[in-house]
Amino acid sequence: MRKKVDFLVIGSGIAGLSYALKVADHGKVLVISKTKLNETNTAYAQGGIASVMYEPDDFNKHIEDTMIAGDQLSNREAVKMVIERGPEQIKQLIDWGTGFDKTKEGKYDLHKEGGHSEYRILHHLDNTGFEIQRALIDQAKKHPNIEFAENCYAVDIITQHHLGEITYRWRTDVECYGAYVLNEKTGKVDTILSKITMMATGGIGNIYQTTTNPTIATGDGIAMVYRAKGIIENMEFVQFHPTSLYNPNERPSFLITEAMRGYGALLRRRDGELFMDKYDERGCLAPRDIVARAIDNEMKNTGDDFVYLDVTHKDAEETKMHYPTIYHKCLELGIDITKDYIPVVPAAHYVCGGIKVDLQGRSSITNLFAAGECSSTGLHGANRLASNSLLEAIVYADVAAKAAVSTLGNIKHNTKIPSWNDEGTSHNEELVLITQTNKEVEQIMSNYVGIVRSNLRLKRALDRLELIYRETESLFDDSIITKELCELRNKINVGYLIIRMAMSRKESRGLHYTLDHNKLRTKR
Ligand code: FAD
Ligand code: SIN
Repeated sequence: MRKKVDFLVIGSGIAGLSYALKVADHGKVLVISKTKLNETNTAYAQGGIASVMYEPDDFNKHIEDTMIAGDQLSNREAVKMVIERGPEQIKQLIDWGTGFDKTKEGKYDLHKEGGHSEYRILHHLDNTGFEIQRALIDQAKKHPNIEFAENCYAVDIITQHHLGEITYRWRTDVECYGAYVLNEKTGKVDTILSKITMMATGGIGNIYQTTTNPTIATGDGIAMVYRAKGIIENMEFVQFHPTSLYNPNERPSFLITEAMRGYGALLRRRDGELFMDKYDERGCLAPRDIVARAIDNEMKNTGDDFVYLDVTHKDAEETKMHYPTIYHKCLELGIDITKDYIPVVPAAHYVCGGIKVDLQGRSSITNLFAAGECSSTGLHGANRLASNSLLEAIVYADVAAKAAVSTLGNIKHNTKIPSWNDEGTSHNEELVLITQTNKEVEQIMSNYVGIVRSNLRLKRALDRLELIYRETESLFDDSIITKELCELRNKINVGYLIIRMAMSRKESRGLHYTLDHNKLRTKR
């Protein structure tokens, strides 16, 4: 099947849907998602969305908090833009029907999370992302110019490469003409020709053994753009959330929101000892990289599989009211959080790097934009400040929509694009090759490229991954493609980018922590 649209949007999370809503008055939009529309990282977000709302908070404080969390590696211009445009985009989310909690006095009830100097996290109970996702889907479904395609998997973006030209990374005139998309219902790869394509494919958590991300997060957009010779950056900065619920066989790992530490929850070792003050004067509310490393260190020293989060000293009714999802989830597992400590471990959560974009969300490939977690805007630097990613996604979707609309009139569909060619391929009957290799990739990344790294571990990871890469490319060349095979290929690609970029950073900075350039610091 061949189809022509003005805007192709790959991804139905906050970045994809808010962009779609903003361009839809100007042309036909197709939004594709690899599973269901609402199976996104966005829908799993708990804590909320950071934005300056009331005094004594101001833009400068939020800007400085973001720069400090990012270990001064953030691009100040991008930081300033996101934070200053935050309030108008929050208003937009509210106008689209998102409900944020309010106090009895009618003001927004703002939370505080690690690294924030003020209360500025707007939230909806402890399931903010679900509420945002619901409102965006409701709104987008009402727009006559937006079409949805679920269970449609983007395999690759289309460029001059598919017309037989040689493309290379520093060529500045690579153009995007749309994407090849595997329709899971027909098993066929469709050719979607678009004037402008938005990559909004989200995160990469599933390249690790333990992650808070739903299974859709396999880094597809980043891998597609890398293969198309686009520029990818900052991949070494992978954020591990300090507190995912310790429940070994559950995937994704259930998140215990950082807002709970803002509310007063404390981290304790398994023997009950508090430990965070040893590592940072901000204690349990230090930025995430510090807390995750401290937990990792305590677990390694004690040999325990988890530490505890303790909220038992807080008012039980208030805890249940503010954190109903967490309360009920833990209760199902026999943990009453108002009386029992919660066992927690760090889990892969967010990638700060990705597809390099400018201040208008343009990638290095012409007519290809990127927004949300798959993009690298410069906001997060070496470490993302909690609850800044939903904000980044909606601000960049907005600037990208404006830039896309202003260039749409100059772009024509490229009609010479050939259909997907699967000549000489056959069905791969040996699924074990995919499932086993997936496990190997996740093990390599978790054991050697996790919270604490070293030159030796990275080298070992690269050597192992190179072998797997060759085997999988050859399998890909011979097989009729499936989503599972493409995802595996993308995970290997993303793992490679993380390792390569980690190897070339000769320092410990933010989320990239290597034993060869530092010793774990404790205050005493
Ligand atoms: P997503 O919401 O992940 O959407 C990705 C979309 O891309 C999906 O529709 C998927 O189907 C589609 N897709 C992917 N690959 C393909 C493909 N090959 N073909 C077709 N479609 C594809 N951030 C905050 O700011 N505040 C929070 O409180 C917060 N809490 C979080 C809690 C959890 C448990 C998690 C996992 C993340 C949290 N984050 C939070 C991070 C934040 O949720 C994400 O960074 C953000 O939602 C990403 O949005 P997105 O639109 O970029 O991607
Ligand atoms: C959380 O609720 O702890 C997650 C917030 C985030 O990832 O920004």
